[in-house]
Amino acid sequence: MGKHVPARYGGDPIREEVLGYGGQSIGDGEKQRVLDVLNGDYITRGPTVDEFENRVADFLNVEHAVATTSGTTALHLAGEAAGFGPGDEVITTPLTFVSTAHTATYAGAEPVFADIDPHRRALDPDAVRKQITDDTAGLVPMHYAGHPADIEGLLEVADEHDLTVLWDACHGFGGTWRGEPLGSQRDLAAFSFHPVKNITTGEGGMVVTDDDEIAERARQLRSFDMDYDPPGHEDEPWYQIVEGVGYNYNVTDIQAALGLEQLDRLEEFKQRRDEIIARYDEAFAEISGIRTPPDPVESDPMYHLYAVEIRDGFGCDRSEFVNAMHDENIGVQVHYVPLHYHPLFQEEYGYERGDFSDAERVYEGLASLPLFPGMNDRDVSDVVHTVDRLYSYHS
Ligand SMILES: Cc1ncc(COP(=O)(O)O)c(C=O)c1O
Repeated sequence: MGKHVPARYGGDPIREEVLGYGGQSIGDGEKQRVLDVLNGDYITRGPTVDEFENRVADFLNVEHAVATTSGTTALHLAGEAAGFGPGDEVITTPLTFVSTAHTATYAGAEPVFADIDPHRRALDPDAVRKQITDDTAGLVPMHYAGHPADIEGLLEVADEHDLTVLWDACHGFGGTWRGEPLGSQRDLAAFSFHPVKNITTGEGGMVVTDDDEIAERARQLRSFDMDYDPPGHEDEPWYQIVEGVGYNYNVTDIQAALGLEQLDRLEEFKQRRDEIIARYDEAFAEISGIRTPPDPVESDPMYHLYAVEIRDGFGCDRSEFVNAMHDENIGVQVHYVPLHYHPLFQEEYGYERGDFSDAERVYEGLASLPLFPGMNDRDVSDVVHTVDRLYSYHS
């Protein structure tokens, strides 16, 4: 019997319908909660947003949670509330989504990249040390795929140089590090509730912190930088004052209703993600050309992505792999084109290809396979078989 011929080389695709790499899982509970809000008095920010914030703060064991319209706007509010501003440098990873760097740019600060630790695929504390100057104000590490960055090492650097640490925890909601919820570490963190993330509110995000001032600042900036109850105007209930350039990043009760039900289902989602990951890990252990995601370090992550690295032994390179998977109707994504490859960071800040060798080497192999709780066993088998067949074909 000859080798199975993948669709890219003339065979039939394994699936007729496309399997995405990620996506939401919405049940009757979510629909009912949203309907209840629609039947009530508030559809913009109201009591359901308060309830959602309180639930998230309790779950993460932090003092404050400030809901906002996306992970991007959470990072924006967090960066400004943390006090980043013109003249500051903020060190972050190049292997991330652009919004991580915008934590600095939106605040008028300069994003400075440092190379990654290739195991965790996140900021390397030693590389960070090399980028520190008198202008460094903070760090924005990102927990890639939900795997914690080197939290202890990065906090050590922050202590040495008195830096604020703002975690981009957009990938990691629901995970723990040394038994603590990811995102609860000092000084503050931002989450995303985009549909491909661990829980969703459609679009949405959250700033979390134990710091009262940072939380208060984030809340006021979220809503026009307006003080709705200014001192000295007790007899003028309509009197609001604008203290600076704020935003309308108010999230709606409709979204918060969705989020509350998703929180109730978090354990179910984590369990299903873990089952799929275990199946992938086992299936790919024997394939020499695939580096499966790193084993967790002192943590129980809730993985947002299953990002493998396609290496020489596989028989084809990453681009060929991704295109071949797409031809089988299996969604595969690459997280991420390193930020220093983009015109924005080259033209504005002088970065170029070759600046961060570890991030670049990891990027060359990266491919995120489908991972979301709505995948059934057949979907998972399709991914496993397709990877196996591609490997057999090329080897
Ligand atoms: C690491 C990281 N940070 C920030 C964001 C921005 O989140 P959002 O899409 O909710 O604005 C994303 C989303 O893709 C992300 O992956």
